[in-house]
Formats: sequence, structure tokens, C-alpha cells
Amino acid sequence: MNTLYICTTFNRTMQYKRILLKLSGEALMGDRDYGIDPKRLKEYAQEIKTVVDKGIEVAIVIGGGNIFRGVSGAANGMDRVQGDHMGMLATCINGLALQSALEDEGVYTRMQTALEIKEVAEPYIKRKAIRHLEKGRVVIFGAGTGNPYFTTDTAAVLRAIEIDADAILKGTRVDGIYTSDPEKDKDAIKFESITFKDVIEKGLKVMDMTAFTLSEENKLPIIVFDMNKNGNLLKLVSGEQIGTIVDYK
Ligand code: GTP
Repeated sequence: MNTLYICTTFNRTMQYKRILLKLSGEALMGDRDYGIDPKRLKEYAQEIKTVVDKGIEVAIVIGGGNIFRGVSGAANGMDRVQGDHMGMLATCINGLALQSALEDEGVYTRMQTALEIKEVAEPYIKRKAIRHLEKGRVVIFGAGTGNPYFTTDTAAVLRAIEIDADAILKGTRVDGIYTSDPEKDKDAIKFESITFKDVIEKGLKVMDMTAFTLSEENKLPIIVFDMNKNGNLLKLVSGEQIGTIVDYK
């Protein structure tokens, strides 16, 4: 039955040269109800260091949901644009925390933001970001796309396309894409790989539609994997069958 769902012929032995890692803000909470868990932050920094040490170029987009979510602000009566601006600033807070944790591990980093806060971080400049990556620095992109109504998933896809990343790696707490929610349905079956078309036809949720379509149109593969499992990130970039890959083939 499992093989029924293996829809693509993408070569998973591929080794990645440049990746865009998308992390959720909530993941940084660890076991907390909000904010940043220093232990989780350190673990993530250590995981990222293992791939940097392999010579893989790493760019990161991180969400801000552990601090503030624009959508939930709007649901509580707040102006949506105002809420989204707060969310963008939340991603900068997470980005700075991650930058600090990475530097503690001896990883060279640069942070660039889509909203200008020059005293805090460099403004986003595509060419400069690519140069940093070529020099082996991890580049953290803060403030999403810099526009309200867009998610950090969309920011991640946009930046990945701009820097010509080989794939977008979406680190989550589940180990891939399933036929239904594996946390609610014990019969859920995991896809090893699936096409963009099948994700839409089967009504599966990988990213919001804006992000997903942008990725599809630009033939950027998305890999959903469990970032909380030690060693997973390194295995994935080394070509092991980790998580689920969404590809166009
Ligand atoms: P190369 O010289 O090209 O290798 O890159 P570099 O990033 O080392 O050079 P640059 O002189 O641009 O930056 C030196 C330091 O200043 C780095 O830590 C940058 O992140 C930081 N920096 C550069 N521009 C800005 C800025 O506009 N705002 C802030 N806050 N920091 C900046």
C-alpha cells in the first residue's frame, strides 16, 4: 500500500549544495508555552553546524509564532497589518537568538532583514546574501517578506528562489507528509515523495497556497522533515531518505 503513494521519481541520493532551512517559531519554544527555550535553540544551532561543517551553504528563514502571530492578533480585533508588522519583528527576535546561538557554536553568520533595522542587522540585499553564503556564512533572513498578508513560508520560498537554493527544507515536528494527520489518525500513511499536483489533488496541507504555488511555479522542491530528531538534517542533506519530498516530477 505504501508504494501507492510514492509519486515522484526524484533522486533522493542527491547531495545538496545550498539549502534554505525554514524553521517555525513555535519549535523554538521547546516545552514552554511561549518564547524561546535556550536548550532547543542550542540543539538547533548544533544541528545546523553539522551541515555547515560539511561545506553546505545554509540560509534560514524562521517564523515568529512563539512570540506573536499576526493572524491571531487580527482574530482578536487587532488591525491585520499592525499584527503582521508585530509578527515580522518577532521573526527578527528569533533570528537574532539563532544568530547568537550559532555564533556560540563557532558558526559564522550574517542576518539580513526585509524591513530596515540597520542598527540591528543588514538590510536584505540578494547579491550580498549570496556572497555571504559563498564565504560559508549562515545567512538568516528576518522580517519575512517585509509585507503584511504573507507568511514566513512564503518568505522562505521567495528567498530560496532568489538565492537559487537547491531545495527548501521545512523543519517540523512531524517526519513528513501523511495521507491524514498522523497525530490524530493512526492509519495515516507517510509519503516518501509526492508531486505538487498530487498535494493539491489530495487536499494535503504542506504550506499555505501562496508559498506552495510560488514553489511549484519555480520548480523548487520542498522537503518536510522532523527537525527535532537528532542528526536528521545532516542525513537529509547527505541524500538519505528523510521526511517527504514534494517535487514537480
Ligand atoms: P565581506 O566584507 O563582503 O566579506 O562581508 P562582511 O559582511 O564581513 O562585510 P561588511 O563590512 O559588510 O560587514 C561587516 C559586519 O558588519 C558584519 O557583521 C555585517 O553583518 C555587519 N553589517 C554590515 N552592514 C550592516 C548594516 O547595515 N547593519 C548592521 N547592523 N550590520 C551591518
